[in-house]
This record gives sequence, C-alpha cells and structure tokens, in this order.
Amino acid sequence: MSYALGLRCRDCGQTYSFTPQAGCEACFAPLEVAYDLPAIGRALDPARIAARPANMWRYRELLPIEPETAASRPRPTALQIGWTPLQPAPRLARALGVRELYVKNDAVNFPTLSFKDRVVAVAFDCALRFGFSVVACSSTGNLANAVAAQAAALGLEAFIFTPADLEAAKIIATRIYGARLVQIDGNYDHVNRLCGEIAQKLAWGIVNVNLRPFYAEGSKTVAYEIAEQLGWRLPNALVCPMAGGSLLTKIGRGFDELRALGWVQGDSRICGAQATGCSPISTAVKRGSREIVPQKPRTIARSLAIGDPADGVYAGETIRRTGGWAEDATDSEIVEGIRLLAETEGIFAETAGGVTVASARKLIAAGRIDAEGSLVLVISGNGLKTLDAVADHLPQSVVLPPRLADFENYLSSLQLEAPGLEPALA
Ligand SMILES: Cc1ncc(COP(=O)(O)O)c(C=O)c1O
Ligand SMILES: [Zn+2]
Repeated sequence: MSYALGLRCRDCGQTYSFTPQAGCEACFAPLEVAYDLPAIGRALDPARIAARPANMWRYRELLPIEPETAASRPRPTALQIGWTPLQPAPRLARALGVRELYVKNDAVNFPTLSFKDRVVAVAFDCALRFGFSVVACSSTGNLANAVAAQAAALGLEAFIFTPADLEAAKIIATRIYGARLVQIDGNYDHVNRLCGEIAQKLAWGIVNVNLRPFYAEGSKTVAYEIAEQLGWRLPNALVCPMAGGSLLTKIGRGFDELRALGWVQGDSRICGAQATGCSPISTAVKRGSREIVPQKPRTIARSLAIGDPADGVYAGETIRRTGGWAEDATDSEIVEGIRLLAETEGIFAETAGGVTVASARKLIAAGRIDAEGSLVLVISGNGLKTLDAVADHLPQSVVLPPRLADFENYLSSLQLEAPGLEPALA
C-alpha cells in the first residue's frame, strides 16, 4: 500500500488530493506530500530496510510511490538510483581541520552522475500515474541530463529548457538521449518563468513546476542514506549546496522523519553553501533575515545559478531551526575547493562541490561547525561535466620523446624527495 496521503500546504495546512499542482490555491505557498508516519513506523524498520536492494527505493514507503504492480510499461522504480558511497575523508578532514569527515558522493549517482536522478525518478513515477506522455523541466544542467536520460528509458517525450550559456558537457549529455533541448537567451529565472507559463497552457508534466511537490521528495533519500550509512546516526553537521534550496530543505525534512520514526536521535546542524556570485540564501542567513532578495547570477557554478530561489525561504528556515549557518565561495575558492577534494580524496566534483568544500572550510574556520564533531559534505554532481571551470587552473603536463634519458632529465628537474626515486639495485 501507499503511505502518502495527499498534498498539504506548507504554510496554511490546506490539504489536496494528488494532483499535478505546485502551489496552494489559498495562500500560494508550496505544497508537499503528507504521509501516515505512524503507519510507516508499524510497517517498516531499519532491519527490513537493510534486507532490501541497495538503491533509493529501499525507502519507498517514505516516497509518493505507488506499490509495485505487474506494470506493462517500465517504471523509474526499476532503475538503480541512489545508495551512493558515504566515503570517510580523513585526508580532507586534516586539510579542513575537522575530526570526523565523510563525503556523500552523488557525483557517482546513476544514471547521469548527479543527485538530480533521485528527484526525476520520483517525479516521473508520478507523471506516469497522472498520465502525462510529455515531460519537461527548466534546468541549470544536471536536471536536464536526468530528465533526458530517464525520459528515454521510460519512452516519454521530453522538452528541456535551459539558459543558453550552459557548459558544453551538460548540453551534449542532454541531447544524446534524443530530448528536445530549447536554449533560452536569458538566465535560469527567465527560463523558469517561461516554464510556469507553459504549464498553464499545455498538459505536460513539468518536473520542477507542476510536479515539484513530488520531485522534491526524491532529495529526502540523500538524508535517509546518510543516516543509514552512519549506522542510524545523524552527523553533528552537514554542508549542502543550494540553488533553489530544495535539496537542503528536504535533507532537513528527511532527518525530521527519521527522528519522528524513532530510528535516529539528536540534532544535525544543516549548513548551506552558495557561490558568492549567486548567494541570495546565504546572504539572507548571514544578515539574520527571513526575506530572500533575488540576485542576478554571476558565477562559474552555473548549476547553482538561481537568483530567485523557489525554496529559499524554507532553506533559510531549515538552517536557522537546526542551528546551522550558511557561507558562500568566490570563483577562485570554488576552483580551489574542487582541487582540494580531488587531491585529498580522489573525488572529482563539479563546481557545486567546489562551493561545498570551500564553504565548509570557512564554516569550520569560523567555529560555525564544531571541529570535534562529525561532518558530512554533500557532493551532488560530477566534475567531468564542468571541465571548463578547472582546465586553466592545473599544473602543466609535459610532452616528452619516448626515450628514457629524456624522462630521467624530466624527473630530476622535479627535484622530488621520495622513497623509490633512487636507482634500483642491479
Ligand atoms: C550539482 C547540483 N547541486 C546542487 C543543486 C541545488 O539543488 P536545489 O535547487 O535543490 O537547491 C543543483 C541544482 O541544480 C545541482 O545541479
Ligand atoms: Zn496554503
């Protein structure tokens, strides 16, 4: 059975049945999925979850997913999404000055190497239930990739709207799946407004417009996995990148649900990270303001370049009520953050990951995150999609003739002092 009861307004509590609708008719606040948590608590426990396959569907009772049927068409629930590594990061911990550090590595989430695969899978399961045959999204890149790939796997027609200036890899990794890519001469906020108008006109399932309440639920699985991978424990603090603010808000909600179920105890300070060139949420948090003032984005972190964040107010509220804080990172700090994570832990994150690492460093240095506690960094996308951001910031490599003498000259020019560099015994 399904434990999702319907939709409920975040602000006024008005309830709705399941419909493709994002906002409350009474007060315009976002709608969210409501669950029968006591019934979930009676039906499910950590031991039963542990026996299930290693993917995000192990938490299906906590998602707006219909029970499995002998479906005649493919469903997203057949895809291997989620259960990405929670990697202990001792070398990065030393560099940042914190005792116990983990990287939640959604840079290797399937099928398109970002956390957006999680949200699209839930949105599409609902899109199929609502009978949509055309799906769409407005995207800063990663969502475009995830929508295009899963639409192909499910046989849905997809229209994808993005700003025209996206990274080449994100454009190609959308078009390859046969989706129709519509690049708009404007920033994300222009693109999103257009999609809102399209949703009024056409019977399309637009994942972050009329399917947004369902889409957003997919992000809770990041929180469930972190808690389970820590042995049903919450980290003392967590740092999460923010664009629209949905991922951070839903990680907070995921931890709340686990506490309500009695599966974890204690608090987790949820901290947000943005690029300095697009920091409407972190600026509001630092000013102690609940109001989000929109900005015109100027940052290399294009995936996070949302100047008017739909869930900004709720992200700010989550940060405040959990005792977290927010920081932001300049373009050069973002590049340094990407390099530091790669060089210490062997994880190549996209620009959003550089934002997270650089912001975490500032939060630790300022004492906003306890250096003696446990900390999780949410790495949400893959560095192979944003090569342009780092290409000009790496040490030169050499081209040598295929001769040992040339290589030896090169090696001695490096003046390295390390065991193994002395001549081998004959
Ligand atoms: C890699 C990556 N991380 C984080 C985010 C932020 O997600 P949200 O809009 O839910 O704040 C995005 C959004 O596009 C993203 O692409
Ligand atoms: Zn309302």
